[in-house]
Amino acid sequence: MAAGDKRSDASSDGEAVLEVDHVSKAYELEGVTVHALSDVSLQVRRGEMVSIMGPSGSGKSTLMHIIGLLDHPTSGQVVIEGEDVGRLTPNQLAQLRNRRIGFVFQAFNLLPRTSALANVELPLVYSGVSGANRARLAREALERVGLGNRLGHSSNQLSGGQQQRVAIARALVTEPSIVLADEPTGNLDSRSGIEVMAILQQLNAEGITVVLVTHDPNVARHAQRVVEIADGRIVREEPVKDRRSAADELANLPNAARVAAEEAPAT
Ligand SMILES: Nc1ncnc2c1ncn2[C@@H]1O[C@H](COP(=O)(O)OP(=O)(O)O)[C@@H](O)[C@H]1O
Ligand SMILES: [Mg+2]
Repeated sequence: MAAGDKRSDASSDGEAVLEVDHVSKAYELEGVTVHALSDVSLQVRRGEMVSIMGPSGSGKSTLMHIIGLLDHPTSGQVVIEGEDVGRLTPNQLAQLRNRRIGFVFQAFNLLPRTSALANVELPLVYSGVSGANRARLAREALERVGLGNRLGHSSNQLSGGQQQRVAIARALVTEPSIVLADEPTGNLDSRSGIEVMAILQQLNAEGITVVLVTHDPNVARHAQRVVEIADGRIVREEPVKDRRSAADELANLPNAARVAAEEAPAT
């Protein structure tokens, strides 16, 4: 079987944690068929960081939703952690998603008027973790993204960058092996965007597989490999030569407080 051959190819260079094999997705909308994905095949090795780059409407989110088990392909196969997800019951799918996959969205998707801690606890409610353990795990996840001092703040009391870090903590709290981030810096100013990329690179350095969607080539270059998609097809795939380090970029940014002081008129 073709999928079996591909699996052995991937394992020569490290185990494939996720495989997309000849996946197509068509949407029917008012009698018109939209081919959002056409015959897409992709393998991601455990511990890899991959960027999926392409213009608006090219099928990036559709692919992420299929990889993230939020949507089904029209045809083709998806294998996650060795499981052919097409064979799983809805219950098993939900379990695989909850235990293995963390999702970060462009628009954060936090519950409004709800504390950072409660937002991060939510996935643990679904996986049946007890109340005291939920609070501890959520606090640890928020500390990991540098928000240990914002546990009680609700979404509207946090900046966009902080909200996205809460969303990353929520993705992390179940200790997933894969984090999927769909345009995670799309709604952020450049400094907050680099901070978010630094966290994603740190998680990757700790062994989490990261798949990142972006239309920005500079953001894409924080990964080890860039996969380009256009009109629902993979058109190019190559390793990143000069991988960017968001931590270095942050260290080289001018210190905001110092710049403000230097720009203030002398009295
Ligand atoms: N639920 C849907 N119903 C109909 N068409 C959709 C739906 N979701 C996405 N599409 C279409 O599929 C194509 C790919 O969309 P999407 O995956 O969101 O692209 P991207 O994330 O790269 O901007 C677009 O033409 C879009 O209009
Ligand atoms: Mg999109």
